[in-house]
Amino acid sequence: MNTVPGPHGDRLLGNLRAFRNRPLQLLLQCRCEYGDVVKLRLGPFSVYLVFNPQDIVRVFDDKSFGRSDFSALFEPLAGGSMIIADGEQWLRQRHRVAPAFNKNRLAMLAPQIHKNAVEIVEQWETEQQAGHLIDVQEAMVGYAMKVITHFLFGSGLDNKMLVAVAKAWSMSLKSMNYRMSEALPLPLWVPTRNNRHLRSAANEISKIILDIIAQQRKTPDDSGSFLSTLLHNRDQDSELKDQEILHEIMGIFLAGFDTVAIAMVWTLYYLARYPDIQTQVRQEMLTTLKETKEGHLGFANLPYFDNVFSEAIRLRPPLWLVDRKSSTETELGGYHIPPNSNIILSPYVTHRDSRFWDNPAVFNPARFEHTEEREKYAYFPFGGGHMRCIGIGLTKLEAQIIIGEILKRYRIELSALHPVEIDCLFVLRSKEGLWMRLTHLNY
Ligand code: HEM
Repeated sequence: MNTVPGPHGDRLLGNLRAFRNRPLQLLLQCRCEYGDVVKLRLGPFSVYLVFNPQDIVRVFDDKSFGRSDFSALFEPLAGGSMIIADGEQWLRQRHRVAPAFNKNRLAMLAPQIHKNAVEIVEQWETEQQAGHLIDVQEAMVGYAMKVITHFLFGSGLDNKMLVAVAKAWSMSLKSMNYRMSEALPLPLWVPTRNNRHLRSAANEISKIILDIIAQQRKTPDDSGSFLSTLLHNRDQDSELKDQEILHEIMGIFLAGFDTVAIAMVWTLYYLARYPDIQTQVRQEMLTTLKETKEGHLGFANLPYFDNVFSEAIRLRPPLWLVDRKSSTETELGGYHIPPNSNIILSPYVTHRDSRFWDNPAVFNPARFEHTEEREKYAYFPFGGGHMRCIGIGLTKLEAQIIIGEILKRYRIELSALHPVEIDCLFVLRSKEGLWMRLTHLNY
Protein backbone atom coordinates (compact mmCIF):
# COMPACT_ATOMS: atom_id res chain seq x y z
CA MET A 1 0.00 0.00 0.00
CA ASN A 2 1.09 3.62 -0.59
CA THR A 3 2.74 5.72 2.10
CA VAL A 4 0.38 8.19 3.76
CA PRO A 5 1.15 11.67 2.38
CA GLY A 6 1.68 14.76 4.51
CA PRO A 7 3.69 17.95 4.95
CA HIS A 8 7.32 17.47 6.00
CA GLY A 9 7.62 20.51 8.23
CA ASP A 10 10.63 21.25 10.37
CA ARG A 11 13.35 18.54 10.76
CA LEU A 12 13.09 18.58 14.55
CA LEU A 13 9.57 19.74 15.37
CA GLY A 14 7.78 18.56 12.24
CA ASN A 15 4.55 20.58 11.90
CA LEU A 16 4.27 21.46 15.55
CA ARG A 17 4.88 25.17 15.13
CA ALA A 18 2.20 25.55 12.43
CA PHE A 19 -0.18 23.39 14.47
CA ARG A 20 0.30 25.67 17.44
CA ASN A 21 0.17 28.99 15.59
CA ARG A 22 -2.50 28.41 12.93
CA PRO A 23 -4.08 24.99 13.51
CA LEU A 24 -7.28 25.48 11.52
CA GLN A 25 -5.45 26.73 8.44
CA LEU A 26 -2.98 23.85 8.70
CA LEU A 27 -5.76 21.26 8.88
CA LEU A 28 -7.65 22.79 5.94
CA GLN A 29 -4.43 22.96 3.95
CA CYS A 30 -3.64 19.30 4.69
CA ARG A 31 -7.05 18.20 3.42
CA CYS A 32 -6.71 20.37 0.34
CA GLU A 33 -3.14 19.42 -0.61
CA TYR A 34 -2.82 15.81 0.57
CA GLY A 35 -6.32 14.31 0.55
CA ASP A 36 -8.50 12.34 2.96
CA VAL A 37 -5.81 10.69 5.08
CA VAL A 38 -2.76 12.74 6.01
CA LYS A 39 0.22 12.02 8.22
CA LEU A 40 1.34 14.89 10.40
CA ARG A 41 4.41 14.97 12.61
CA LEU A 42 3.98 16.96 15.83
CA GLY A 43 7.35 16.94 17.57
CA PRO A 44 7.98 13.38 18.74
CA PHE A 45 4.45 12.21 17.79
CA SER A 46 2.97 11.23 14.46
CA VAL A 47 -0.76 11.54 13.93
CA TYR A 48 -3.07 10.55 11.12
CA LEU A 49 -5.67 13.11 10.08
CA VAL A 50 -8.80 11.46 8.71
CA PHE A 51 -11.27 13.72 6.87
CA ASN A 52 -13.64 11.55 4.85
CA PRO A 53 -16.92 10.41 6.52
CA GLN A 54 -16.50 6.95 4.93
CA ASP A 55 -13.32 6.49 6.97
CA ILE A 56 -14.65 8.38 10.00
CA VAL A 57 -17.45 5.78 10.24
CA ARG A 58 -14.80 3.08 10.71
CA VAL A 59 -12.98 5.11 13.35
CA PHE A 60 -16.11 5.89 15.37
CA ASP A 61 -18.07 2.69 14.96
CA ASP A 62 -15.27 0.13 15.27
CA LYS A 63 -14.63 -0.47 18.97
CA SER A 64 -10.97 -1.29 18.34
CA PHE A 65 -10.47 2.51 18.19
CA GLY A 66 -10.14 3.85 21.72
CA ARG A 67 -8.75 6.85 23.56
CA SER A 68 -5.67 8.47 21.97
CA ASP A 69 -2.43 9.50 23.66
CA PHE A 70 -3.64 13.13 23.56
CA SER A 71 -6.17 12.52 26.31
CA ALA A 72 -3.16 12.47 28.67
CA LEU A 73 -3.07 16.26 28.16
CA PHE A 74 -6.22 16.46 30.28
CA GLU A 75 -4.67 14.39 33.05
CA PRO A 76 -3.93 17.36 35.35
CA LEU A 77 -7.63 18.25 35.61
CA ALA A 78 -9.50 15.16 34.54
CA GLY A 79 -7.17 12.31 35.53
CA GLY A 80 -9.20 9.24 36.58
CA SER A 81 -12.40 10.54 35.00
CA MET A 82 -14.47 8.88 32.34
CA ILE A 83 -13.37 11.38 29.69
CA ILE A 84 -9.88 9.94 29.59
CA ALA A 85 -10.64 6.34 30.60
CA ASP A 86 -10.58 3.57 28.00
CA GLY A 87 -11.84 0.00 27.46
CA GLU A 88 -13.69 -1.82 30.26
CA GLN A 89 -12.86 0.90 32.76
CA TRP A 90 -14.41 3.57 30.51
CA LEU A 91 -17.55 1.46 30.06
CA ARG A 92 -17.99 1.05 33.81
CA GLN A 93 -17.56 4.77 34.33
CA ARG A 94 -19.95 5.69 31.50
CA HIS A 95 -22.63 3.43 33.03
CA ARG A 96 -21.96 5.01 36.38
CA VAL A 97 -22.62 8.59 35.24
CA ALA A 98 -25.31 7.93 32.60
CA PRO A 99 -28.35 8.08 34.98
CA ALA A 100 -27.56 11.74 35.77
CA PHE A 101 -28.20 12.60 32.10
CA ASN A 102 -31.65 11.01 32.01
CA LYS A 103 -34.09 13.45 30.35
CA ASN A 104 -36.59 13.45 33.26
CA ARG A 105 -33.81 14.20 35.69
CA LEU A 106 -32.54 17.05 33.51
CA ALA A 107 -36.05 18.44 33.24
CA MET A 108 -36.05 18.80 37.05
CA LEU A 109 -33.19 21.29 36.66
CA ALA A 110 -35.08 23.48 34.22
CA PRO A 111 -36.71 25.91 36.72
CA GLN A 112 -33.33 26.74 38.30
CA ILE A 113 -31.66 27.08 34.86
CA HIS A 114 -34.47 29.43 33.88
CA LYS A 115 -33.88 31.49 37.02
CA ASN A 116 -30.17 31.77 36.13
CA ALA A 117 -31.03 32.84 32.57
CA VAL A 118 -33.47 35.52 33.76
CA GLU A 119 -30.86 36.87 36.19
CA ILE A 120 -28.32 37.23 33.38
CA VAL A 121 -30.61 39.04 30.96
CA GLU A 122 -32.02 41.25 33.70
CA GLN A 123 -28.47 42.30 34.59
CA TRP A 124 -28.13 43.54 31.00
CA GLU A 125 -31.03 45.95 31.48
CA THR A 126 -29.02 48.78 33.07
CA GLU A 127 -26.15 48.36 30.61
CA GLN A 128 -28.54 48.38 27.71
CA GLN A 129 -30.36 51.48 28.94
CA ALA A 130 -27.04 53.29 29.33
CA GLY A 131 -26.31 52.43 25.68
CA HIS A 132 -23.41 50.14 26.59
CA LEU A 133 -22.35 47.17 24.54
CA ILE A 134 -22.58 43.71 26.12
CA ASP A 135 -19.93 41.00 25.99
CA VAL A 136 -22.18 38.05 25.29
CA GLN A 137 -19.29 35.57 25.49
CA GLU A 138 -18.51 36.56 29.06
CA ALA A 139 -22.21 36.31 29.92
CA MET A 140 -22.60 32.84 28.37
CA VAL A 141 -19.53 31.60 30.23
CA GLY A 142 -21.03 32.94 33.49
CA TYR A 143 -24.38 31.33 32.74
CA ALA A 144 -22.83 27.98 31.76
CA MET A 145 -20.84 28.02 35.01
CA LYS A 146 -24.04 28.46 37.03
CA VAL A 147 -25.78 25.69 35.11
CA ILE A 148 -22.95 23.19 35.39
CA THR A 149 -22.48 23.79 39.13
CA HIS A 150 -26.20 23.33 39.65
CA PHE A 151 -26.19 20.18 37.52
CA LEU A 152 -23.19 18.81 39.44
CA PHE A 153 -23.99 19.80 43.01
CA GLY A 154 -27.72 20.59 43.15
CA SER A 155 -29.44 23.51 44.77
CA GLY A 156 -27.81 23.14 48.18
CA LEU A 157 -24.64 25.16 47.48
CA ASP A 158 -24.48 28.61 49.01
CA ASN A 159 -23.37 31.55 46.91
CA LYS A 160 -19.95 31.79 48.59
CA MET A 161 -19.19 28.20 47.62
CA LEU A 162 -20.44 28.76 44.06
CA VAL A 163 -18.14 31.77 43.65
CA ALA A 164 -15.20 29.76 45.03
CA VAL A 165 -15.85 26.88 42.60
CA ALA A 166 -16.20 29.25 39.63
CA LYS A 167 -13.00 31.11 40.51
CA ALA A 168 -10.90 27.98 41.06
CA TRP A 169 -12.22 26.34 37.89
CA SER A 170 -11.55 29.43 35.73
CA MET A 171 -7.96 29.53 37.04
CA SER A 172 -7.52 25.83 36.28
CA LEU A 173 -8.91 26.20 32.77
CA LYS A 174 -6.69 29.19 32.06
CA SER A 175 -3.56 27.22 32.97
CA MET A 176 -4.86 24.19 31.08
CA ASN A 177 -5.43 26.27 27.94
CA TYR A 178 -1.94 27.68 28.25
CA ARG A 179 -0.51 24.18 28.61
CA MET A 180 -2.32 23.04 25.49
CA SER A 181 -0.93 25.97 23.50
CA GLU A 182 2.66 25.11 24.42
CA ALA A 183 4.75 23.55 21.65
CA LEU A 184 5.86 20.68 23.87
CA PRO A 185 4.11 20.68 27.25
CA LEU A 186 6.62 19.50 29.82
CA PRO A 187 5.51 16.81 32.31
CA LEU A 188 3.59 18.24 35.23
CA TRP A 189 6.37 17.48 37.69
CA VAL A 190 8.70 19.94 35.90
CA PRO A 191 8.23 23.14 37.95
CA THR A 192 7.61 25.60 35.09
CA ARG A 193 5.59 28.68 36.05
CA ASN A 194 2.46 27.38 34.32
CA ASN A 195 2.84 23.85 35.70
CA ARG A 196 3.01 25.29 39.21
CA HIS A 197 -0.11 27.40 38.53
CA LEU A 198 -1.96 24.46 37.06
CA ARG A 199 -1.06 22.16 39.95
CA SER A 200 -2.07 24.68 42.56
CA ALA A 201 -5.34 25.57 40.75
CA ALA A 202 -6.17 21.85 40.36
CA ASN A 203 -5.44 21.27 44.07
CA GLU A 204 -7.62 24.24 45.01
CA ILE A 205 -10.63 23.10 43.00
CA SER A 206 -10.18 19.49 44.21
CA LYS A 207 -10.16 20.66 47.82
CA ILE A 208 -13.37 22.63 47.34
CA ILE A 209 -15.11 19.73 45.60
CA LEU A 210 -13.99 17.22 48.26
CA ASP A 211 -15.49 19.56 50.89
CA ILE A 212 -18.77 19.64 48.98
CA ILE A 213 -18.77 15.83 48.73
CA ALA A 214 -18.12 15.51 52.48
CA GLN A 215 -20.89 18.01 53.22
CA GLN A 216 -23.39 16.18 51.03
CA ARG A 217 -22.49 12.81 52.53
CA LYS A 218 -23.63 14.29 55.86
CA THR A 219 -26.59 16.26 54.52
CA PRO A 220 -27.77 14.66 51.29
CA ASP A 221 -29.14 16.90 48.55
CA ASP A 222 -31.99 15.11 46.81
CA SER A 223 -32.48 17.50 43.91
CA GLY A 224 -31.27 14.85 41.43
CA SER A 225 -27.82 16.35 40.95
CA PHE A 226 -24.88 14.51 39.41
CA LEU A 227 -23.25 14.29 42.84
CA SER A 228 -26.35 12.85 44.49
CA THR A 229 -26.59 10.26 41.68
CA LEU A 230 -23.01 9.17 42.34
CA LEU A 231 -23.48 9.16 46.11
CA HIS A 232 -26.36 6.73 45.64
CA ASN A 233 -24.42 4.66 43.12
CA ARG A 234 -23.29 1.26 44.29
CA ASP A 235 -20.55 0.24 41.90
CA GLN A 236 -20.03 -3.53 42.19
CA ASP A 237 -21.83 -3.40 45.52
CA SER A 238 -19.54 -0.91 47.20
CA GLU A 239 -19.94 2.84 47.60
CA LEU A 240 -17.87 5.09 45.37
CA LYS A 241 -14.93 6.65 47.15
CA ASP A 242 -14.69 10.43 47.42
CA GLN A 243 -11.70 10.45 45.05
CA GLU A 244 -13.64 8.51 42.38
CA ILE A 245 -16.53 10.96 42.65
CA LEU A 246 -14.12 13.91 42.50
CA HIS A 247 -12.59 12.57 39.26
CA GLU A 248 -15.98 12.18 37.58
CA ILE A 249 -16.99 15.69 38.60
CA MET A 250 -13.76 17.15 37.21
CA GLY A 251 -14.30 15.27 33.92
CA ILE A 252 -17.83 16.62 33.53
CA PHE A 253 -16.63 20.12 34.37
CA LEU A 254 -14.03 19.93 31.63
CA ALA A 255 -16.35 18.42 29.03
CA GLY A 256 -19.58 20.24 29.78
CA PHE A 257 -18.87 23.84 30.66
CA ASP A 258 -16.84 25.73 28.02
CA THR A 259 -18.21 23.60 25.17
CA VAL A 260 -21.81 24.55 25.73
CA ALA A 261 -21.01 28.20 26.56
CA ILE A 262 -19.20 28.55 23.25
CA ALA A 263 -21.92 26.78 21.27
CA MET A 264 -24.38 29.38 22.58
CA VAL A 265 -21.93 32.17 21.75
CA TRP A 266 -21.62 31.13 18.09
CA THR A 267 -25.39 30.63 17.80
CA LEU A 268 -25.97 34.18 19.06
CA TYR A 269 -23.24 35.41 16.72
CA TYR A 270 -25.03 34.01 13.65
CA LEU A 271 -28.42 35.19 14.91
CA ALA A 272 -27.00 38.69 15.18
CA ARG A 273 -25.39 38.47 11.73
CA TYR A 274 -28.60 37.34 10.05
CA PRO A 275 -31.52 39.48 11.30
CA ASP A 276 -34.12 37.63 9.20
CA ILE A 277 -33.12 34.33 10.76
CA GLN A 278 -33.19 36.00 14.17
CA THR A 279 -36.76 37.19 13.55
CA GLN A 280 -37.83 33.70 12.49
CA VAL A 281 -36.27 32.09 15.58
CA ARG A 282 -37.90 34.73 17.80
CA GLN A 283 -41.30 34.06 16.26
CA GLU A 284 -40.95 30.31 16.76
CA MET A 285 -39.82 30.80 20.35
CA LEU A 286 -42.55 33.31 21.26
CA THR A 287 -45.29 31.14 19.77
CA THR A 288 -43.99 28.10 21.63
CA LEU A 289 -43.54 30.06 24.86
CA LYS A 290 -47.23 31.08 24.76
CA GLU A 291 -48.15 27.39 24.60
CA THR A 292 -45.94 26.23 27.49
CA LYS A 293 -47.17 26.41 31.06
CA GLU A 294 -43.61 26.31 32.49
CA GLY A 295 -42.75 29.85 31.31
CA HIS A 296 -39.51 28.72 29.66
CA LEU A 297 -38.50 26.74 26.58
CA GLY A 298 -36.80 23.82 28.36
CA PHE A 299 -37.06 20.77 26.14
CA ALA A 300 -39.71 22.38 23.89
CA ASN A 301 -39.84 21.26 20.29
CA LEU A 302 -38.26 24.08 18.24
CA PRO A 303 -37.41 22.63 14.80
CA TYR A 304 -36.25 25.90 13.25
CA PHE A 305 -34.05 26.83 16.21
CA ASP A 306 -32.61 23.28 16.20
CA ASN A 307 -31.51 23.85 12.61
CA VAL A 308 -29.98 27.22 13.44
CA PHE A 309 -28.09 25.78 16.40
CA SER A 310 -26.88 22.81 14.32
CA GLU A 311 -25.73 25.10 11.54
CA ALA A 312 -23.90 27.40 13.99
CA ILE A 313 -21.89 24.48 15.39
CA ARG A 314 -21.34 23.09 11.90
CA LEU A 315 -19.33 26.20 11.05
CA ARG A 316 -17.94 26.73 14.55
CA PRO A 317 -17.77 23.32 16.28
CA PRO A 318 -16.71 24.13 19.87
CA LEU A 319 -14.49 21.05 19.95
CA TRP A 320 -12.62 21.29 16.69
CA LEU A 321 -10.72 18.01 17.14
CA VAL A 322 -11.86 14.54 18.15
CA ASP A 323 -9.23 11.89 18.73
CA ARG A 324 -8.91 8.11 18.78
CA LYS A 325 -6.17 5.48 18.72
CA SER A 326 -6.22 2.29 16.68
CA SER A 327 -5.40 -0.75 18.79
CA THR A 328 -4.93 -3.02 15.76
CA GLU A 329 -3.47 -2.68 12.30
CA THR A 330 -6.06 -1.15 10.02
CA GLU A 331 -6.75 0.41 6.64
CA LEU A 332 -8.20 3.87 6.12
CA GLY A 333 -8.76 5.55 2.76
CA GLY A 334 -6.63 2.92 1.04
CA TYR A 335 -3.67 3.45 3.37
CA HIS A 336 -2.18 1.06 5.86
CA ILE A 337 -2.37 2.42 9.43
CA PRO A 338 -0.13 0.65 11.95
CA PRO A 339 -1.45 -0.42 15.38
CA ASN A 340 -1.32 2.17 18.18
CA SER A 341 -1.58 5.10 15.74
CA ASN A 342 -3.14 8.32 17.00
CA ILE A 343 -5.98 9.49 14.77
CA ILE A 344 -7.36 13.02 14.62
CA LEU A 345 -10.76 13.85 13.18
CA SER A 346 -11.69 17.46 12.66
CA PRO A 347 -15.35 18.45 12.54
CA TYR A 348 -14.11 21.93 11.55
CA VAL A 349 -12.64 20.55 8.30
CA THR A 350 -15.18 17.85 7.43
CA HIS A 351 -18.08 20.25 8.12
CA ARG A 352 -16.81 22.53 5.31
CA ASP A 353 -16.01 19.91 2.71
CA SER A 354 -17.84 20.79 -0.50
CA ARG A 355 -18.18 17.08 -1.43
CA PHE A 356 -20.64 16.69 1.44
CA TRP A 357 -22.04 20.21 1.84
CA ASP A 358 -23.42 22.58 -0.80
CA ASN A 359 -21.86 26.04 -0.46
CA PRO A 360 -20.24 25.02 2.82
CA ALA A 361 -19.12 28.54 3.75
CA VAL A 362 -22.71 29.84 3.68
CA PHE A 363 -24.73 29.92 6.91
CA ASN A 364 -27.90 28.11 5.87
CA PRO A 365 -30.00 26.45 8.60
CA ALA A 366 -32.35 25.02 5.94
CA ARG A 367 -29.70 22.42 5.05
CA PHE A 368 -30.64 20.60 8.28
CA GLU A 369 -34.18 20.02 7.03
CA HIS A 370 -33.00 17.03 5.00
CA THR A 371 -30.51 15.23 7.19
CA GLU A 372 -31.49 11.84 5.75
CA GLU A 373 -29.59 12.72 2.56
CA ARG A 374 -26.37 13.40 4.42
CA GLU A 375 -23.51 10.95 4.67
CA LYS A 376 -23.10 9.53 8.21
CA TYR A 377 -20.42 11.52 10.07
CA ALA A 378 -20.21 14.34 7.54
CA TYR A 379 -21.49 16.11 10.69
CA PHE A 380 -20.11 15.24 14.12
CA PRO A 381 -19.88 18.23 16.50
CA PHE A 382 -20.61 15.81 19.37
CA GLY A 383 -18.21 13.10 18.19
CA GLY A 384 -19.59 9.66 17.43
CA GLY A 385 -19.82 5.95 18.13
CA HIS A 386 -19.66 4.51 21.63
CA MET A 387 -17.86 7.55 23.09
CA ARG A 388 -20.28 10.12 21.68
CA CYS A 389 -21.00 13.14 23.89
CA ILE A 390 -23.28 12.35 26.79
CA GLY A 391 -24.34 15.97 27.37
CA ILE A 392 -26.47 16.73 24.30
CA GLY A 393 -29.72 16.86 26.32
CA LEU A 394 -28.32 19.31 28.85
CA THR A 395 -26.92 21.43 26.01
CA LYS A 396 -30.36 21.71 24.40
CA LEU A 397 -32.05 22.60 27.69
CA GLU A 398 -29.46 25.22 28.55
CA ALA A 399 -29.32 26.85 25.12
CA GLN A 400 -33.07 27.00 24.49
CA ILE A 401 -33.81 28.55 27.86
CA ILE A 402 -31.34 31.43 27.66
CA ILE A 403 -31.65 32.17 23.96
CA GLY A 404 -35.43 32.23 24.45
CA GLU A 405 -35.03 34.78 27.28
CA ILE A 406 -32.66 36.95 25.21
CA LEU A 407 -34.73 37.02 22.02
CA LYS A 408 -37.96 37.59 23.96
CA ARG A 409 -36.56 40.89 25.23
CA TYR A 410 -33.99 42.12 22.73
CA ARG A 411 -32.99 42.47 19.12
CA ILE A 412 -29.28 41.64 18.98
CA GLU A 413 -26.68 43.18 16.66
CA LEU A 414 -22.93 42.66 16.40
CA SER A 415 -20.80 45.60 17.46
CA ALA A 416 -18.96 47.12 14.51
CA LEU A 417 -16.22 48.19 16.93
CA HIS A 418 -15.20 44.67 17.89
CA PRO A 419 -14.22 42.41 15.00
CA VAL A 420 -14.60 38.73 15.76
CA GLU A 421 -11.52 36.56 15.49
CA ILE A 422 -11.40 32.85 16.29
CA ASP A 423 -9.08 31.65 19.03
CA CYS A 424 -8.22 27.96 18.96
CA LEU A 425 -7.91 26.90 22.57
CA PHE A 426 -9.46 23.81 24.12
CA VAL A 427 -12.61 25.15 22.47
CA LEU A 428 -13.02 27.43 19.47
CA ARG A 429 -13.81 30.72 21.17
CA SER A 430 -13.87 34.35 20.08
CA LYS A 431 -10.55 36.01 20.91
CA GLU A 432 -11.81 39.33 22.31
CA GLY A 433 -15.26 38.29 23.44
CA LEU A 434 -18.48 38.76 21.48
CA TRP A 435 -19.72 42.32 21.81
CA MET A 436 -23.30 43.13 20.95
CA ARG A 437 -25.71 46.05 20.91
CA LEU A 438 -29.12 45.19 22.32
CA THR A 439 -32.37 46.94 21.43
CA HIS A 440 -35.42 46.50 23.63
CA LEU A 441 -38.44 44.94 21.95
CA ASN A 442 -41.06 45.85 24.59
CA TYR A 443 -43.28 42.82 24.07
C1 HEM B 1 -22.43 22.16 22.52
C2 HEM B 1 -21.99 21.53 23.58
C3 HEM B 1 -21.09 20.34 23.52
C4 HEM B 1 -20.28 19.90 22.51
C5 HEM B 1 -20.04 20.55 21.16
C6 HEM B 1 -19.66 18.68 22.96
C7 HEM B 1 -18.79 17.93 22.19
C8 HEM B 1 -18.25 16.73 22.61
C9 HEM B 1 -17.37 15.92 21.82
C10 HEM B 1 -16.88 16.25 20.41
C11 HEM B 1 -17.03 14.85 22.54
C12 HEM B 1 -16.10 13.72 22.13
C13 HEM B 1 -16.94 12.57 21.65
C14 HEM B 1 -16.15 11.47 20.99
O1 HEM B 1 -14.98 11.27 21.36
O2 HEM B 1 -16.71 10.79 20.13
C15 HEM B 1 -17.71 14.95 23.82
C16 HEM B 1 -17.63 14.03 24.82
C17 HEM B 1 -18.18 14.21 26.05
N1 HEM B 1 -19.04 15.23 26.45
FE1 HEM B 1 -19.66 16.73 25.29
N2 HEM B 1 -20.10 18.41 24.22
C18 HEM B 1 -20.99 19.39 24.60
C19 HEM B 1 -21.66 19.48 25.79
C20 HEM B 1 -21.51 18.64 26.85
C21 HEM B 1 -22.16 18.77 28.13
C22 HEM B 1 -23.16 19.87 28.50
C23 HEM B 1 -21.70 17.76 28.92
C24 HEM B 1 -22.03 17.42 30.35
C25 HEM B 1 -22.53 18.22 31.23
C26 HEM B 1 -20.78 16.97 28.12
C27 HEM B 1 -20.13 15.84 28.56
C28 HEM B 1 -19.33 15.04 27.77
C29 HEM B 1 -18.67 13.85 28.25
C30 HEM B 1 -18.75 13.29 29.67
C31 HEM B 1 -17.96 13.32 27.16
C32 HEM B 1 -17.11 12.05 27.17
C33 HEM B 1 -17.96 10.91 26.66
C34 HEM B 1 -17.25 9.57 26.69
O3 HEM B 1 -16.03 9.55 26.61
O4 HEM B 1 -17.93 8.57 26.83
N3 HEM B 1 -20.69 17.54 26.88
N4 HEM B 1 -18.46 16.11 23.82
